This record gives sequence, structure tokens and C-alpha cells, in this order.
Amino acid sequence: MAKGRKNGLYEGVSEELSSLMRTGWADSERRGTEPAEQAPYAAARRAALSARFPGERLVIPSGNLKTRSNDDTYPFRPYTGYVHMTGDQARDGALVLEPRADGGHDAYCYQLPRDSRENDEFWIGYTAELWMGRRRTLAESEILLGLPCRDVRGAAADLAAVTGVPTRIVRGHDPALEAAVATDEDRDDELEEALSELRLVKDAWELGEMRKAVDSTVRGFTDCVGELSRAVASSERWIEGTFFRRARLEGNAVGYGSICAAGEHATIMHWTDNDGPVRPGELLLLDAGVETHSLYTADVTRTLPISGTFTAVQRQVYDAVYEAQEAGMAAVKPGAPYRDFHEASQRHLTARLVEWGFIEGPVDRAYALGLQRRFTMAGTGHMLGLDVHDCAQARTAEYVDGVLEPGMVLTVEPGLYFQPDDLTVPEEWRGIGVRIEDDLVVTEDGHENLSAGLPRSSSEVEAWMAEFAG
Ligand code: GLY
Ligand code: MN
Ligand code: MN
Repeated sequence: MAKGRKNGLYEGVSEELSSLMRTGWADSERRGTEPAEQAPYAAARRAALSARFPGERLVIPSGNLKTRSNDDTYPFRPYTGYVHMTGDQARDGALVLEPRADGGHDAYCYQLPRDSRENDEFWIGYTAELWMGRRRTLAESEILLGLPCRDVRGAAADLAAVTGVPTRIVRGHDPALEAAVATDEDRDDELEEALSELRLVKDAWELGEMRKAVDSTVRGFTDCVGELSRAVASSERWIEGTFFRRARLEGNAVGYGSICAAGEHATIMHWTDNDGPVRPGELLLLDAGVETHSLYTADVTRTLPISGTFTAVQRQVYDAVYEAQEAGMAAVKPGAPYRDFHEASQRHLTARLVEWGFIEGPVDRAYALGLQRRFTMAGTGHMLGLDVHDCAQARTAEYVDGVLEPGMVLTVEPGLYFQPDDLTVPEEWRGIGVRIEDDLVVTEDGHENLSAGLPRSSSEVEAWMAEFAG
């Protein structure tokens, strides 16, 4: 009798149970699998990657399940570069680009196929198909992805067997495959850089997904405004749950931990505890994004007066951030240095902070010394896509020191944050935090604000709340 797991309530599996389990199953082959809509776009992305590494073998794993405790695992998140190059989200997979003599590559994909029903693997163990759900057959994966597919259980041996081919792998996602190829870390980092850079400009399919992510996010924000009175009676968690419901209903999940920050929590950049009170008279900073089923995320922030109207000081701060955002967005156009939108926003906020007497001028001096950062804290934006902070491994020359191109998607998100214990500002300013964050795509002649469906100016926000606040 095969041994059961420690502290399992069954001691093992009898031979008779084992053979009973193997019999009596209907044919569950899926017929009629269609190629994924994204497949030709993923093929074009692979061609661009291939052109960067002639003569080299490239291995891009999707990653493995991570244990949370015992036999419980974290929700699986495939490596972004794998998703981009394949359109696939399966765990334990790997894309391989095998070099050809002509400088190009042949691509194929390792996949974890279905469990056999001729042994016990399909029903014993917490990752077995009967416990976790049906996977695809290799044949189904080949049609769906438009790639030849092989059984990943042979991948390490396959990769180790061929020597003399310069190889790179993206590290940190699949230790067994890394051990099989034994590559050089610096050269591997260049592969990850290239994968990040190939995401800087989104293709038409990706832009469609970004629109879906933002449109769902707009609906999620409206949901939250409609639930404000329940949040007042409960806590920030009510807002978090309200947005999450929209994210799960329309997409995969939230693209990052929602920041539902009422009152002085708005001054904490990464406030995700979301367990504080929601009080009339204070502001609610909501930074949240729906992630689509294809894993593209929005990243939007609105700062709302919980009682429906801004106080004079809240409005003064809000309007300064709004003007800074306007200045930043005006700098988003093709050919503009990436840093321009950040500098435009930050200069505006620096000027306001000098005018209010919170930092010492003149403005040029204060800006050169970065004095505004006490109150603006973060950079003004970042690339957005499959990752909320997308393309983060790109070379600096290609990203923050680069130039905007049509198809890039980025956030513009200036803010002002007056800490509750900051003795350098008047008491009524303390604990106020305001951020306004929108998602922009660079177009041929400027930009389009994908999140323009949400109000931005203080008067628009008040009108919106008057209409929807519940
Ligand atoms: N929500 C993270 C950010 O705005 O960058
Ligand atoms: Mn952001
Ligand atoms: Mn954000």
C-alpha cells in the first residue's frame, strides 16, 4: 500500500483503490481549440527578441508555484517576459529560442501536460489535476500558442544535453532549468533587459488590453464612490473590497495592492493595510487598478473629499497637484525626453511650495537641490503594462534617459503629502495627501489619456460625487 501524507486521515492507497481510480473515465480531449488572438503578436515579439541575440539559445521560464505553507501555495503569477513572448500564463513552462545557422531562431515551448490516468499522478498530491483542475494537452497548447510544445518534464535533461551553444536564461523563476544550463549572470541580465525594453512600446493588441484594464478601473472607482457611506460606517476595507469585486468580476484581479487611504493615511505612499476609519471632512486617496485576464493592469489614483466637497486647504493642495498634472501631461508627446513630464510637474509643485513658504526659494535653486521632495516624495510616473511598474529592467538610456515614442503607456501621477507630524507646515495642512494619477498612451501627435473617463479637476470631482456618492 502506497504511503499517505503525514497527518492525512487516510493511511495510504490500496492496490484496489488505485486500479479503481484509473478506470471508467470518459475521453476528455478538447476538440476545436482555436489559436489565441494574441498569438501572431507574440510571434512578432519573439522575432524582435531573436534579432537581438543571433546564434544564442534563450530560455524564458514561466515560473513555478510558491509554497505558502505546507501544501498551500500563493496564487501563481507567471513571469512577465514569458507572458509577453508567448501570450501564455501556464506554470512550469518555458519558452526556448534555439539558434539557427542563418542567425534566426526556432521557438518552442515547454509545457506541463495533462496528468496520466494510467498511474496515480492525476489524483494524488495537491498539484494533481483532479485537485487543481484540468491542464491543456500539448496538442491543445500548440494550437493555442502557435508554437511547437514539448513535455517540460524532459526540459532540464534536454537543455543540459546540448553543449557548445551560448545560452542565456532569465533567472529567478525556475531553479531546475537554471541548474541545467549553468549560464553567466551578467549575460542573463542582458536578456532580462532586452525583454523589458521590448515591452516599452505596446502593440495594437496590448493597447486594446490596456483600454480594457482602464475602463474596468473607471467602473471600479465609480463603485467605490457609490459605497462611500458604507465605508464611513465601516472602514477603508469596504473600499478595498468594493474595488476588488469589480476587478475579479471583469478581470483577473487587482494589478497591485489597492491603496485605500483615508485621512492621514494618504500621506503614506504604500498604504495597503486599509484598516483605518473613513471620516467625513477628510480626503480619501484611492490608488487602484484592474488587471485584465491577459494580465495587463491599469494604475489610477483619485483623491476624493469624503463629505463631497473640499475644504479650502484641501482644495488649495488639490488644485496645485491638478495643475502639476496638467503641466506633466502636456509634456507627454512623441520625441519628448521621458524625463520632461516629471520635470514639468515637479517644477510646478516646487513653485507652489516656495510660494507657500514651505521650502526656501528661489524656485530654480530649490528644484536643483530637490527640496520639494520632502512633500512630493515620489517620481511623477512610470511605464505601465503587464507589470504596474513595467519595463523596470530596461537600460536607463532606453527608459528614463530615453525619448517617448507612440505606443508607450505611462502614468502621470504628481502628488503632495504633508505628514501628520511635520512641524514645518501649519497644523491644518498636516495629514493631507493628494495624488492624481492617469494612464496615458503616447500617440503620433501627442497623447491620449486612457483614464479620462474619471473626473480630475476639483470641481469635476465634486460634481461626480454629488451624482454618484452613496
Ligand atoms: N500604485 C503604484 C503606483 O502608483 O506607482
Ligand atoms: Mn503609478
Ligand atoms: Mn498608482
